[in-house]
Amino acid sequence: MEKRNVRGTEVIHIDPADPDMDGIRYAASILRNGGLVAFPTETVYGLGANALLGSAIRKVYRAKGRPSDNPLIVHIADREALSSVAREVPEIAIELMRRFWPGPLTLVLPRNQAIPDEVTGGLDTVAVRMPDHDIALALIGESGVPVAAPSANLSGRPSPTCAEHVIADLAGAIDVILDGGNTQIGLESTVLDVTVAPPVILRPGGITPEEIREVVPEVALAAARADGPVKSPGLKYKHYAPKAKVMVFAQSGGGAFEKLAASARRLAEEGLRVGIMATSENAPRYQDLDASLKVMGPQDRPGIIASRVFALLRAFDDENVDVILVEGVPEQGLGFAIMNRLVKAAGGTVIS
Ligand code: TXA
Ligand code: MG
Repeated sequence: MEKRNVRGTEVIHIDPADPDMDGIRYAASILRNGGLVAFPTETVYGLGANALLGSAIRKVYRAKGRPSDNPLIVHIADREALSSVAREVPEIAIELMRRFWPGPLTLVLPRNQAIPDEVTGGLDTVAVRMPDHDIALALIGESGVPVAAPSANLSGRPSPTCAEHVIADLAGAIDVILDGGNTQIGLESTVLDVTVAPPVILRPGGITPEEIREVVPEVALAAARADGPVKSPGLKYKHYAPKAKVMVFAQSGGGAFEKLAASARRLAEEGLRVGIMATSENAPRYQDLDASLKVMGPQDRPGIIASRVFALLRAFDDENVDVILVEGVPEQGLGFAIMNRLVKAAGGTVIS
């Protein structure tokens, strides 16, 4: 077992291609007994706790500084575990699981009473997913319990896509971090409520609306439903925010470049430290500006952009920039979820 200690948190390196089962079993026993273990998934790193122990869940909220009415996703390693988490599983959910599990789709289902109020924020529903990552599946399987896990960041910070991000936010506050390298997708799972008809996408994520429509043609988007109480409590908080101010420039009509460059010039003249997150296509055109330039990836490769976007927001914070100017991306496929996160980081405003 390759272990190091950072401010009292044990960091265990696990090779995802050849997982060290001693390390995973060690972490699983800590998890089962009420400790907090951060682990990689295919989306982002999660901060895991035994979902059957209210006391362990309360530690998760404390470590993250998270409002306790924002419920957690329960992670399972096999379909048999579902009955201990959900009270009933509608036919449509079974079809979605068959198609997308393991994978970045979280289903909101009627809750089994074995899941404590601390996990669900007192709701009568519970969010469940089966991650597509060998380390996550082995950890959950070895723990023998369902694992509640929010993203392993301090509340309000960008989600962690590598162990260094988790260390920066949570070392000293949790028991173990399993370091399995970078996560592949880089954005969180799609949260889909299947307790209502038609089902509603509460949070866009790793599975695109287009993919869900192949199984559920009439799926709705939460953003389009202005009526009623907030269905996913997480929607009301400012999220994914780096310390710097973020401005997003819409790509529509191919026009992000001129406006972004003009803003960069003006802000630099005011004496501010400017960061630019550019698409590969436009990046060379920003090179002469007085700004720190980072490349997100090609406009037609949203998968690459998704995998980098949170890490780039964090990197700008490490450089202490005052303002981050970001090119928007087309809202197709994964681009929809990318824009959702960027607009949230910008506090809701897009310059078009
Ligand atoms: O990819 C992911 O989903 C990652 C990895 C670790 O699995 N997890 C994650 O968890 O992003 P978190 O806690 O950062 O986001 C969970 C989201 C929040 O928006 C929360 O409001 C929503 O899921 N949620 C959880 N339970 C819910 C429920 N019963 N009803 C509606 N929304 C729920
Ligand atoms: Mg989160």
